[in-house]
Amino acid sequence: MTSAANIRVDVHLDPDQLRAALRTEARAGLTASPKQLSPKWFYDERGCELFEAITRLPEYYPTRREQEILTENAAAIAELTGADTVVELGSGTSAKTRTLLDAFAARGRLERFVAFDLSEPTLRAAAASIAKGYPGIALHAVVGDFDHHLGDLPGGGRRLVAFLGGTIGNLGPDRRASFLKELATSLRPGDSFLLGTDLVKDVARLEAAYDDSAGVTAMFNLNVLAVLNRDLGADFDLHRFHHVARFDVEREWIEMALRSTTDQVVTVADLDLRVPFATGEEMRTEISAKFRRSGLEAEMQAAGLELARWWTDTAGDFALSLWTPAGAGLGSPSPG
Ligand code: AVJ
Repeated sequence: MTSAANIRVDVHLDPDQLRAALRTEARAGLTASPKQLSPKWFYDERGCELFEAITRLPEYYPTRREQEILTENAAAIAELTGADTVVELGSGTSAKTRTLLDAFAARGRLERFVAFDLSEPTLRAAAASIAKGYPGIALHAVVGDFDHHLGDLPGGGRRLVAFLGGTIGNLGPDRRASFLKELATSLRPGDSFLLGTDLVKDVARLEAAYDDSAGVTAMFNLNVLAVLNRDLGADFDLHRFHHVARFDVEREWIEMALRSTTDQVVTVADLDLRVPFATGEEMRTEISAKFRRSGLEAEMQAAGLELARWWTDTAGDFALSLWTPAGAGLGSPSPG
């Protein structure tokens, strides 16, 4: 733990551990059949920039829709939850975070902001930027992986845990169930959970959001190969892979993959690995699940969470939902 100004940083995952995780996961994923990589490796500096660019694309509606819902309802969220601590999973310096914090600050009870992310540099930048805008609040950055370190989130106060952007959709049903269970277990009566989820809709719009005409999502997807080249000494030729995004109507998720355009063998020096790809072979790089209210309520109930509020944008594209530990409810609105 280190502190600078009033920023506390807890590192549960240091760069060596992150690197070890990349090696383990890359070896497993590149030797699996079908091949796959976790979307968490997209987000190096370039990947973060490309994702930012995605959020501004005309086809990529989720960020704007969620912002619309937050702008409309942030005051109600602050009032309903009565929270003095906002915990953001996969945090950012984003406009959405500020919309939320502004509403809590306006109520005069924002004491603490906790940001949780894989990347220490990202977190430090986020904390420093939030520190400027909200003098007097305690800032706590937690570097960790939400598969392993949810239990390490600081307790105390009345907490709102926010998981925005639809990122929960990166987890398949099984991992979602364990994630939600662990999260629910960490919530105390009085705490609440704010979740952003993209909703099932017209297939053409869903697929366009992940295969934009400017090709930014294609660059974002291919960037994961550049990450492996740099961090694992691999020799992927980005020109020999093609971006693929399609909606699986059975599973109701977008699947992104990289398709080999030729027979080729890729070498991953740091893993002592030679990886053959056949022409047309696809390596999955991301799933992004889309939700329905009924399905989400059932999953949450299984985890021990109860719906308190459900908001959507006017087009009904995206949902923001507020959950509490089963039986606890939102409690009495706190005074003040
Ligand atoms: C950041 C995981 C919410 O799934 O929509 C955007 C990532 N991938 N375009 C999503 C993403 C391709 C995004 N999340």
